[in-house]
Amino acid sequence: MFQSNLNHTDPRFWTELETSIEALIVGEISKTANQANFSSLLFHSLPNLNWCGFYLWDDFSNELVLGPFQGKPACIRIRSGQGVCGTAFAQREYVLVEDVHQFPGHIACDEASQSELVIPLLKTQENKVICVGVLDLDAPTKGRFTKLEAENLQRICHRFIDHLI
Ligand code: SME
Repeated sequence: MFQSNLNHTDPRFWTELETSIEALIVGEISKTANQANFSSLLFHSLPNLNWCGFYLWDDFSNELVLGPFQGKPACIRIRSGQGVCGTAFAQREYVLVEDVHQFPGHIACDEASQSELVIPLLKTQENKVICVGVLDLDAPTKGRFTKLEAENLQRICHRFIDHLI
């Protein structure tokens, strides 16, 4: 299990985390297992989170559907453009919310959540970049997430996307 003594503001933290993710998921073909382990590794490696997991786009219902996660039970279906997750999905850009109570349309799953970071999961298929879902992280304190963290997580998701979805 990944356990770093480094602070997540230190670039070496992210190098170590990536090495651990690689060791955990690259040899496994089950994407469900990889999503589960990926969300668990992040949940236990990044400080001060109360929820971390996936919402995956479902072409049949045209909604994001809850995938593997760590944390309390959460809402199952989210439309494109709805809440923080649906906004990141529709915009195809990460959304960093300092205070969820100030975000219009925020969907409250766990009342402990105070700030949130949602990373869109982008994948190239037939020479087109499509958004296949989002990675959602919630924290029990306001202003928990930084741009540096968002950019690192976006890069990591991009690097491992073919092992996840
Ligand atoms: N808060 C999210 C919903 C998902 S839960 O936080 C796990 C949103 O507004 O989209």
